[in-house]
Order: sequence, then structure tokens, then C-alpha cells
Amino acid sequence: MDQKWDESDTELFLRYGRVFIPERDELEKAFIDLIPANHDEELVVVDIAAGGGWLTETIVSTFPKAHVIALDGSSEMLDYTKDQLNQYADRLEFRHFDLFDDSWLKGLPNNIRCFVSSLAIHHLDLKQKQDLFKKLYLNLQENGALLIADILKPVNEIGRRSMSRSWDEVTKKQSLDLEDNLQAYEYFLNAEWNLFEHPDDPVDKPSTLLEQLNALEQAGFSDVDAWWVKAGHALFGGYK
Ligand SMILES: C[S@@+](CC[C@H](N)C(=O)[O-])C[C@H]1O[C@@H](n2cnc3c(N)ncnc32)[C@H](O)[C@@H]1O
Repeated sequence: MDQKWDESDTELFLRYGRVFIPERDELEKAFIDLIPANHDEELVVVDIAAGGGWLTETIVSTFPKAHVIALDGSSEMLDYTKDQLNQYADRLEFRHFDLFDDSWLKGLPNNIRCFVSSLAIHHLDLKQKQDLFKKLYLNLQENGALLIADILKPVNEIGRRSMSRSWDEVTKKQSLDLEDNLQAYEYFLNAEWNLFEHPDDPVDKPSTLLEQLNALEQAGFSDVDAWWVKAGHALFGGYK
């Protein structure tokens, strides 16, 4: 059976996600750089498991004619994000979806320029990722892109230790820089959020970067690459 994200994680992530994601400012800029559209163009973007909506917000605020379909499996996340992004309501659509059931793909429009996703695809195992990448490729416009930021599976023990140390350090620094105290960092430790240190949560099934780049190529994507890597997280994807 597929293990599911728990609503208690929703609360923790809404409160501390900003601190737990390494260098989110840089990640936001990189996503914007890589979306294949001019800022004044009309385009449709789908944010897969949008969560608290930071990526959706970055896109609607940068591309004034963008329409974003924000998907998530948590009603609490969707309600929160809808409320937060109310000023963009006319260009946003919120849909409840289940990552493990691809029926959500059937209801999509046929003019999607970009699928984006942050920190969610690792809930699928490698085979499920391969299947999803193929289906996303088929649902993209020509010249479209799939851009994913996610946590990686280390390739060996020496890599795991480095990823773990680096994520721990960046979280501690961001807790101090963004919140002026160590509370978020303490939650990170207490909730055993650093999966390089605590890899046993069955909800997390990260794949290595290379496995995912290969899966993208096998799905048909070209210009497959990773553009940002930090603390065991990467932004990678490909173009159609
Ligand atoms: C770590 S959060 C990331 C949220 C957001 N993309 C971000 O970067 O802040 C993971 C998100 O995936 C959603 N999620 C987890 N499992 C899911 C599933 N099986 N179906 C749909 N959404 C799911 C959760 O509700 C949550 O919003």
C-alpha cells in the first residue's frame, strides 16, 4: 500500500517549511529562470503538490498573464494557500488530487507550458516516477518543461553523511536568519525531518539524481539537466 503524507506534517511544514527548504530564495529565482516563457506571455502552469503555495505565488507574481493550477492532496494545505493567494484568485485554480492516482491528469487543459513541483515527487518510488514523467511529457505543450525541486537519495554512505551535515547546517542557519531563534531548527531535529539521518519513514522514497535524469530522458524529455544542488536537494528537469 502507498504510504500517505500525514496532516500533522502539513501543520509542521506550513509553520517551518520556509526554514526547512535550503536556499528557497535561490530556488525561486532558478525556477523563474527556467520556465520557458517570457514574463509577459500567457501560459498555463501546473504546480504538483503546491503545499503552502510559495512556488505558485512566485510564478503568478512574476508572470502577470500566467494561469496556475495548484494541486494538493491536503484540504488543509489547499484552504490555507487559497486564502494566502487570494489577491491572484482570478488566475489560480485549486484542485484536490492524489499523487498515487493519475486520474487527475485527465482533467487537465491541453495547453500546459510547464509542470513544476517542489518536494513532493519523492513520495513516489522510482517506477512510479518513471510512469509519471512519461505521462507529464504527453500532457505538455511543445516547448514545454517539467521542473522539479526535490530531495535526493544519496548514492553512497560518504554522500549521505555530507548531505545530512549540509542540510542540518543550512537549517540551523536559516532558523537563526529567518526566525531569529532556533525553534524551527529544534523542530527539524525533534521531528527527525533530516531523512539523510532518519531514512526509515516509508512515506519518503527519494531516488538518486542520476536515476531521475535518466527517467526524464526515457520519458522523452530533452535538454535534461540539474541546475541547482544544495544539501541533498536538487532542481532538475527537462524540455519537450
Ligand atoms: C513537503 S510538502 C511540499 C509542499 C510545497 N510544494 C513546498 O515546496 O513547500 C509535500 C506536499 O505534498 C502533498 N502530498 C503528499 N503526498 C501527497 C499525495 N499522495 N497526493 C497529493 N499530495 C500529496 C502534501 O499535502 C504537501 O503539500
